[in-house]
Amino acid sequence: MPRHLITSALPYINGVKHLGNLVGSMLPADVYARYLRAGGHEVLAICATDEHGTPAELGALAEGVDVAEYCARHHETQRELGERFGLSWDWFGRTSRPQNHELTTHFAKRLRDEGYTDIRTTAQVYSLADGRFLPDRYVEGTCPNCGYERARGDQCENCGKQLEPTELIDPRSSVSGSTDIEVRDSSHVFLRQSALADRIRAWVDTKSDWPQLTRSIAYKWLDEGLEDRGITRDLSWGVPVDPHDFPEAEGKVFYVWFDAPIGYLAATREWADAGRGGDDAQAAFDSWWRTDRGAGDVTYTQFMGKDNVPFHTLSFPATILGSGEDWKLVDRLKSFNWLTYYGGKFSTSQGRGVFMSDALDLAPADCWRWYLMANAPESDDSSFTWELFGEAVNKDLVGTFGNFVNRTATQLDRHFDGIVPGEGEDGEPEADLWSRVELRLGEYVEAMDALQFRRAATALRALWAEGNGYLEVREPWKTVKVDRDRTACTLRNAMAVALVDAVASAPFVPEASQRLRAAFPADAGAELQLDPTLASAARAAVDAGDAFETPGLLFAKLAPEQLAEWADRFGGDGEPGE
Ligand code: 2FM
Ligand code: ZN
Repeated sequence: MPRHLITSALPYINGVKHLGNLVGSMLPADVYARYLRAGGHEVLAICATDEHGTPAELGALAEGVDVAEYCARHHETQRELGERFGLSWDWFGRTSRPQNHELTTHFAKRLRDEGYTDIRTTAQVYSLADGRFLPDRYVEGTCPNCGYERARGDQCENCGKQLEPTELIDPRSSVSGSTDIEVRDSSHVFLRQSALADRIRAWVDTKSDWPQLTRSIAYKWLDEGLEDRGITRDLSWGVPVDPHDFPEAEGKVFYVWFDAPIGYLAATREWADAGRGGDDAQAAFDSWWRTDRGAGDVTYTQFMGKDNVPFHTLSFPATILGSGEDWKLVDRLKSFNWLTYYGGKFSTSQGRGVFMSDALDLAPADCWRWYLMANAPESDDSSFTWELFGEAVNKDLVGTFGNFVNRTATQLDRHFDGIVPGEGEDGEPEADLWSRVELRLGEYVEAMDALQFRRAATALRALWAEGNGYLEVREPWKTVKVDRDRTACTLRNAMAVALVDAVASAPFVPEASQRLRAAFPADAGAELQLDPTLASAARAAVDAGDAFETPGLLFAKLAPEQLAEWADRFGGDGEPGE
């Protein structure tokens, strides 16, 4: 069986992430990791905070604290929130840790040795008032492309154009607001991506199973001609350039987009180093990342928002390929469009939209996980609305999944003292039920294997509905008065379906699934796997005489007034946003 390495795009350290960030990488990565683990696969799920570059420095400046302290604090917050959302990382690292410094330095040196770097003198924006260079987001001004007045030095938020700080019209410092700015020369390390373009194209050509969105983004950049890229910056916070390797760039740090993807490896190295010594740690790390040292059977899947695709299909592969070493490259790449808030942007400054920290005060993580994944912006952008959230919780979780489990548990408790009864023979209705369950499960597994989460959610919802459909046809609450054997048979089969549901739903709603699973005796289906054999295995695992502890209500309904109050509080006015 292949082993699975899973990474989600590393969230920038600055600030709590909103639901759009969550559904665009971390949550689907977790759903997939949980799915594979439940199917008996070996999985390593890695994430980390992306702590370098201007987002970190500017965030620290805004809070008036030292960058290192800022990063440490926000890393903790993000880790804690991720865990409360049920994100089951094997490791949640930090790009500021020594492992990333070491690997980033290593890759830069390898690229130099292979002849893929050079030193170029470039014009940089310098602020006389601040006494420093202003790379990337440190400078703001008017976009030369669309005239937007608050464009940043790396990109215009309004028209999306990638920019150089020197291109901005009327530039000003993001630090002090000063316009006392001049252009000065500075030497930087460049990665000669143009020299690697053919190798990257040949590699992309082999990825015929990548989604169309991903392939077209990669080819667009390749067709336009891959440009060489400055991989150092005039900043103090970051991975310092080793002056032995690049004396001309002494005192600079690597660009955040150079070290961040190396952070996937570095966070794995943190995981390997935890509780292991020297050679063991090296071997554990290599077994996931070095194809010449044991990683040959690893399938590597990456999750990210669509803005990250060029970095993962071109820039990071350029680093890997150019190193001349046998590092693992991505196999499967799943990218997402945007989740909008009523058609507009989530905005921290305008208090618009829901952030991870708010969300958990309102409803349990499972409700958010289900809503977000069932409405994930997969083939197009999708819009968050309180109405859709209410529907996902009230109709799907409470009305379908929860209702089936609750009705079954109540009848079993009331009429059979919570003990699975052995009476009654399975007949036609049961054959019909199980063929439907098999069908839904097959659809679900196929969609999950294809990383199609909305389709998987649709199949899962249909699986839940099969249980209700069966109860409605068999009506145990009526038959108990006249035909106890038939009622026993119905509830025994319903219990087995509930066990299928508990296992199948775990990737999406882990907490409720765990509660349902715990209601069965510990040995009932302890070995069950989430794969096409699940239905028959669960059916065989539910035995007459098993005691079932009623799990209580799995989900609570959201009242319309409650949803209306939240819409009010979070700016959901039903109007498309800015
Ligand atoms: O766009 C972002 O949020 C980046 N912090 C993603 C980095 S992904 C990886 F390369 F680290
Ligand atoms: Zn613009």
